[in-house]
Amino acid sequence: MRGKAVNILGIETSCDETAAAVVADGRVVKSSVVASQTKLHEKYGGVVPEIASRAHIEKIYPVIKEALQQAGTGRDDIDAIAVANQPGLTVALVVGVTAAKTLSFMWEKPLIAINHLHAHMQSAILGHENPSLPAVALIVSGGHTSLYDYHSPLEPKLLGSTIDDAAGEAFDKVAGMLKLPYPGGPAIEETAKNGNPKAIQFPQSMLSADSLDFSFSGIKTAVLYHCHGQDMKGENKVDSMSKQQIADIAASFQAAVVDVLVKKTQRAIERIDAKTVLLGGGVAANSHLRSALQQMCDSTKPAKKLLIAPKQYCTDNAVMVASLAYYKFKAGLFADLTVEPKARG
Ligand code: KG4
Ligand code: ZN
Repeated sequence: MRGKAVNILGIETSCDETAAAVVADGRVVKSSVVASQTKLHEKYGGVVPEIASRAHIEKIYPVIKEALQQAGTGRDDIDAIAVANQPGLTVALVVGVTAAKTLSFMWEKPLIAINHLHAHMQSAILGHENPSLPAVALIVSGGHTSLYDYHSPLEPKLLGSTIDDAAGEAFDKVAGMLKLPYPGGPAIEETAKNGNPKAIQFPQSMLSADSLDFSFSGIKTAVLYHCHGQDMKGENKVDSMSKQQIADIAASFQAAVVDVLVKKTQRAIERIDAKTVLLGGGVAANSHLRSALQQMCDSTKPAKKLLIAPKQYCTDNAVMVASLAYYKFKAGLFADLTVEPKARG
């Protein structure tokens, strides 16, 4: 007979989503509540930390309450409280961490601290028990672009990361240049559907021949020059561009970024002789990236299995936090009440 399920309440406030979820045994999603702050940050074209923090304070209690209600769970059914405590905006993380610590203390439940990027990897694994390992995990979000050697959920090893902008950040900034709505990733993807990805050759930074790091500031600047002229003295041409021209820029930019992400992932596969590839993070919602990576995994010899996070768990959510916490729970890796938020992780 199977034992009682382990129910973990997960909390996520690392950037601009206030989220809570209840997950049983690391894989049965009992509830998932996400309050997005997109509307609040829209007019600034990016996340404003103080606004994010204030919005988390307003939303944290109702979001946790709803997650518990939807799951039909209360204090007695919850076995542990998990919270993403790093990396992220410190003023945002602190709200989730404080809520988690308070609940842990009041309910006398163990507290589990989770790395937000490791949790993004977990969303790709969700629903796939026992994938062949090692895997390469590509995590592409608004704040990070990283490749990991994934041997186990608890000890992924960083292989490379961006030395400047994250891929999602580049999508957001280029969308701003093209006067597309915020957040830029989905807007670029939509606009690119009508564009020619070969219309403009934007630079693809591969860094040195064996590097697994990324750099996206060059392509961002190239788009800026394309819109303003090389000397930046010309007026912004975007207002007078046709819809087709804008679509061509979006499609060419997206193709160049995706190409770099795919090539570097291929390098990482060779480096660690991976059997599986995991894809997670907000940019993993991009259909062009999903299909290009699938194509590469299918054509690599021998073919690699690609596991992609379901779209609703690509962007920030608490299911990934509660799910990863299950492995820490099993291993007895608990945090104490002195745990702090950390900007880097
Ligand atoms: O993982 P996430 O929700 O937050 C961070 O941890 O940063 O990622 C948000 C990022 C944003 O930059 C957003 O523009 C990007 O993910 N994104 C996309 C798409 N959907 C979201 N980028 C490209 N294509 C998309 N469809
Ligand atoms: Zn994230």
